[in-house]
Amino acid sequence: MKVAVLGAAGGIGQALSLLLKTQLPAGSELALYDVAPVVPGVAVDLSHIPTDVKVAGFGKDDLAQALTGCDIVLIPAGVPRKPGMDRSDLFNINAGIVRNLVEAIADNAPEACIGIITNPVNTTVAIAAEALKAKGVYNKNKLFGVTTLDVIRAETFVAELKGLSATNVHVPVIGGHSGTTILPLLSQVKGVELTDEEVASLTTRIQNAGTEVVEAKAGGGSATLSMGQAAARFCLSLVAAMKGDNVVEYTYVETNSDDAEFFSHPVRLGPNGVEEILPYGELSAFEQNAKDAMLEGLRGDIKLGQDFVNN
Ligand code: NAD
Ligand code: LMR
Repeated sequence: MKVAVLGAAGGIGQALSLLLKTQLPAGSELALYDVAPVVPGVAVDLSHIPTDVKVAGFGKDDLAQALTGCDIVLIPAGVPRKPGMDRSDLFNINAGIVRNLVEAIADNAPEACIGIITNPVNTTVAIAAEALKAKGVYNKNKLFGVTTLDVIRAETFVAELKGLSATNVHVPVIGGHSGTTILPLLSQVKGVELTDEEVASLTTRIQNAGTEVVEAKAGGGSATLSMGQAAARFCLSLVAAMKGDNVVEYTYVETNSDDAEFFSHPVRLGPNGVEEILPYGELSAFEQNAKDAMLEGLRGDIKLGQDFVNN
């Protein structure tokens, strides 16, 4: 298994690379790519950890080499938010970064599964899809927006509120990855009773959790450690699925459903990426209203990405 992290010297990239160095199966290779000159040092640093995962660092002129032979490519490259910004304010810088990196993946690792972390995810995944289509190598089963952070936050917040172990709480989160497009399905959490007030306040907290971190970091960036954990969980699930395990994760994929062209669903992963997009089940009246209210915005975010590549 070869995994590349593009943006590996950043806050997410370093946390994610550490987790992958310690948790990928023995014999795996980890390729760390970044335009920041520190990236070879990050690789040397990680290489001193005694696991059977080989790490190599690749600087800005060595992207092709980093990507060649990859099974999975994770992209956290780009700029994070500062207080007062929305994720969509990152579009101007991050759209081009994602397009260029995905074009290089198309040229050097066209069969790889791609996990997009760079914000605004609602839009950057659509950019990646169009860039891959333009290169003639798009496979909708192999492109994912990583929305696992919304799931782990939702599980943490519900467990905290109810005094439960977070490892035993499972919360579906569908939709997209910004503001009200993040839709936790609290009506489906098993073994937990929530009042209407609790549902409303938990939903708002889960939707604003990224902003909670951005404000707490006070200009120093956005979530990196929890995102590193979330992306590692997603990647390790993909690795397990590629080896034949039955794994389901919530992730933002092309669905072509009536909701939106891309939408986070429960997805059964398999050796070739998406094995099956599962239905997200029945919504409560609160969730149905929240979904109806956010769809137009999400579709607009997707169109922005498609137009960026095509116009
Ligand atoms: P960061 O600034 O700490 O790191 C970004 C890294 O990307 C830097 O090392 C930078 O050198 C590198 N980079 C920039 N342009 C590059 C390019 N063309 N090729 C390769 N590397 C490049 O930022 P961060 O905190 O790690 O966040 C990265 C991105 O992830 C942001 O867009 C942020 O909004 C997003 N994010 C997404 C989620 C999510 O749930 N999907 C969660 C948190 C953050
Ligand atoms: C998050 O949810 O933490 C990320 O999308 C980063 C951000 O800008 O909030």
